[in-house]
Amino acid sequence: MIELKVNGIKRQVDVVPEMPLLWVLRDELGITSAKYGCGVAQCGACTVHIDGKAVRSCQAHIGEVAGKSVVTLEGLHNKDQNPVLQAWIAHQVPQCGYCQTGQIMQAISLLASIPKPTDEQINQVMSGNLCRCGTYPRIRAAIHAAAANKMAEK
Ligand code: FES
Ligand code: FES
Repeated sequence: MIELKVNGIKRQVDVVPEMPLLWVLRDELGITSAKYGCGVAQCGACTVHIDGKAVRSCQAHIGEVAGKSVVTLEGLHNKDQNPVLQAWIAHQVPQCGYCQTGQIMQAISLLASIPKPTDEQINQVMSGNLCRCGTYPRIRAAIHAAAANKMAEK
């Protein structure tokens, strides 16, 4: 048995240690916000937070995640007040939506480390999250809006 915390709840899974976290979340625990895109850490669709850091869950073996805390989109606190989610809605960012969970989890992580990022910093940090629908300008605008919102809260 491998034990970890997912969205604040202790979970135990009976799987091989090499199984990717993405598989555990989706197939073992029924948590489906993180998506399978490429499976080789090239698209960002599977991004979740492990101990507060954005990680590609398709490449994180569950054996290495044992004892750690995983947060997915479902587990974000205070969703109605979350400045990133609010900005995403206000700017109507998603198109097909497939990549958006990963984009949002990466953006939250970006703003946690750089509260007021420049366009360049956004492009750099978000460049590993691909969007086939090309929503990049709206993603950037939403991140700026979320940053302004967070600053206003302080
Ligand atoms: S599915 Fe993990 S980075 Fe593409
Ligand atoms: S919204 Fe369709 S892939 Fe990003």
